[in-house]
Amino acid sequence: MTTSARRTALRTMKAVRIHEYGNGNVLRYEDAPVPDIAPDDLLVRAVAASVNPVDWKVREGHLRSMIRHPMPLTLGWDVSGVVEAIGAEVTRFKVGDAVFSRPDIQRNGTYAEYVAVRESEAAHKPRTISHVEAASLPLAGITAWEALLAAGRLAAQQRVLIHAGAGGVGSLAVQLARAQGAHVIATASASNRALVWSLGADEVIDYRSQRFSDAVRDVDLVFDTIGGETQELSWSVLKPGGTLVSIISPPSQDRALALGMHGAFVFIEPNAAILAELAGRVDMGKLRPIVGAEFALEDVAKAHAFSETGRAVGKIVLYVGRP
Ligand SMILES: NC(=O)c1ccc[n+]([C@@H]2O[C@H](COP(=O)([O-])OP(=O)(O)OC[C@H]3O[C@@H](n4cnc5c(N)ncnc54)[C@H](OP(=O)(O)O)[C@@H]3O)[C@@H](O)[C@H]2O)c1
Repeated sequence: MTTSARRTALRTMKAVRIHEYGNGNVLRYEDAPVPDIAPDDLLVRAVAASVNPVDWKVREGHLRSMIRHPMPLTLGWDVSGVVEAIGAEVTRFKVGDAVFSRPDIQRNGTYAEYVAVRESEAAHKPRTISHVEAASLPLAGITAWEALLAAGRLAAQQRVLIHAGAGGVGSLAVQLARAQGAHVIATASASNRALVWSLGADEVIDYRSQRFSDAVRDVDLVFDTIGGETQELSWSVLKPGGTLVSIISPPSQDRALALGMHGAFVFIEPNAAILAELAGRVDMGKLRPIVGAEFALEDVAKAHAFSETGRAVGKIVLYVGRP
């Protein structure tokens, strides 16, 4: 009997959980129960999970006024893996299917050998990439899609400024904006300029050596992935009637009204339809996941510390199990 089969039989698995909010020291790689599945759930045997900044924000308790998580809590809300079991009402998937998902952030997450994911939150994994690459896509990809294409209504020929073009969300946003036929301007450190060009940016602004607001103007859409002063300065680069979409904090509606512009805030939800679109683009060679760092699940504290530096390039992925 394999280790994994033995754990399933025992109904225990390895997971990274927290029992209290705090710094990286609260992360525990430990035994946890294999989740029970509801009739509309898939039980996914995870091959890879990815790290998003929201993971350490939840770990630190920053979202506790928004989300009431019970403890202990398994962190992580991106997974790629294989369907191990299905609930009685599941129709789109069967045991053995390779799937990827950004599951419900209200439930236990994906830093675990087995994850319960609603059928409505999963899609078939892109065929042409590994589980490690697929795990990097769901949360960041849905975010970039919702911000640029849904909230921002980005159209061909429009000019878009994407902050943090080398980041997890930004590296996908640059590619989606390019595919939309937009003129893409992105900010990045000089060391990431070549990468961001290769993703399809027309202009890359080194935000450390010059203020982006001195270098950019007449933009139809700004995608704010930074907040604070960056969001404030972003109004000045927009055209009249332009739109500022943030994933950090809601832009001031008073400011937008006074300037004759639009402001929108996006906080993403699971979305299987967008996952299927992303998978299709990947398999057509039109979207490329960027995995900048990989860690074993038990080394998650190192992965969080790296994410918290704000210097990650593309996504940080955790290996969980065998494909
Ligand atoms: N509302 C939502 O639903 C939602 C969804 C996803 C993410 N988020 C949030 O969005 C933010 C970005 O997420 P992410 O996953 O893309 O983060 P990330 O991958 O950790 O971002 C790292 C990147 O940020 C860049 N960066 C740091 N400071 C910058 C600045 N002042 N200007 C431009 N670039 C800067 C760095 O670029 P260089 O190394 O090139 O300097 C690095 O490549 C996080 O705060 C996350 O929590 C919100």
